[in-house]
Amino acid sequence: MSWDQVWIDINIATMDPTSTIPYGAITQGAMAIKEGKIAWIGERKDLPKFDTLSTPIYRGKGGWITPGIIDAHTHLVFAGNRAHEFEQRLEGMSYEDIALAGGGILSTVNACREASEAELFELGRQRLNALAREGVTTVEIKSGYGLDTETELKLLRVARALGEHHHIDVKTTFLGAHAIATEYQGRADDYIDLVINDMLPKVIKDNLADAVDVFCEHIAFNHAQTKQVLTAAKAAGLNIKLHAEQLSNLGGSAMAAKLGALSVDHIEFISEESIKVLSQYGTCATLLPGAYYSLRETQLPPIALLRQYKIPMVVASDYNPGSSPICSSLLMLNMSCILFKLTPEEALQGMTINAAKALGIADNVGSLEIGKVADFCLWDINTPAQLAYTYGVNACQQVVKSGRVIP
Ligand code: NIG
Ligand code: FE
Repeated sequence: MSWDQVWIDINIATMDPTSTIPYGAITQGAMAIKEGKIAWIGERKDLPKFDTLSTPIYRGKGGWITPGIIDAHTHLVFAGNRAHEFEQRLEGMSYEDIALAGGGILSTVNACREASEAELFELGRQRLNALAREGVTTVEIKSGYGLDTETELKLLRVARALGEHHHIDVKTTFLGAHAIATEYQGRADDYIDLVINDMLPKVIKDNLADAVDVFCEHIAFNHAQTKQVLTAAKAAGLNIKLHAEQLSNLGGSAMAAKLGALSVDHIEFISEESIKVLSQYGTCATLLPGAYYSLRETQLPPIALLRQYKIPMVVASDYNPGSSPICSSLLMLNMSCILFKLTPEEALQGMTINAAKALGIADNVGSLEIGKVADFCLWDINTPAQLAYTYGVNACQQVVKSGRVIP
């Protein structure tokens, strides 16, 4: 066998969805990489003979290998911060009150309109570095802090540039319909017209987005407006997703699922009827414990029902300066278990294979199987549950991206 590298002395949480073993685990495993892809994976004792003199051999010292961590929902390109609103919330103001008073998303919009592309790029780069240290190999980044054509395009260009210059893969999502721009207050339909007829065509022309998202909520866009944007995006051949049922139940999830959404995100207030629709259409449910925690929400997402209907559960950081100012994907593994009572295995599925589904890339990444891209991490842990169990001591020893060992 001729391979580019071989890994031994490892246990592997393959997260192979077809495996009947928890985590798809292979203890005392081995893995071979060729041209950036997984060429062989299995038990060490079954590893075919290969040229041990010419093939680099990596020893995992008995640690665990997992697929690279995928954070499928972030807003990580932004300028400024909202520490003042944090203080206001601690004094009793709600997230909605702050938004309705012109703060919230709109305050980050002001900061982003003023920031240069270079400034936004540098901020984003530092944040990606922080995520990379935790084993993240793919991240989704949304726009939505521009709310005018120029700034929305700027944010997406920065996100694309980050993907080109960083080893982390970046999937971009156009979220022009995140809030009603100040200039359009009281004219939400006109703003939606701008999103669909001015922003979206330009986003498509410059190939700036892989998906389109909308914030469907009483403080943002209603069911009909949301449907218009998603329908236009779908017609243009883009993937669609939705911020839905975060603060109330507008039925956005079911509508988005019927239109073919890859995921519906937040969904604390989703109904059983809507969950049934998700199951019919194969839509993922993205759980965002960082926002639930930071906003001190009390309405839990209906985990038992999501399990009952076998909805793929995704876990993501929602990293943003308002509702989830937490630049850590790993912490979400812990929070999703503690706050939402996911099992550690469900949590890891949520940041690997199911996250890949939510981004439409599960054929290539998200689990360790022959033919998939060699994106993986080596962790100094004794059992995969440790990834969710503890936080603060970074057990990530090594990251490999497309077969390249990241220095
Ligand atoms: O996912 N819910 C809407 N959007 C973001 C929050 C954005 C912000 O507050 O800046 C979210 O929670
Ligand atoms: Fe979000």
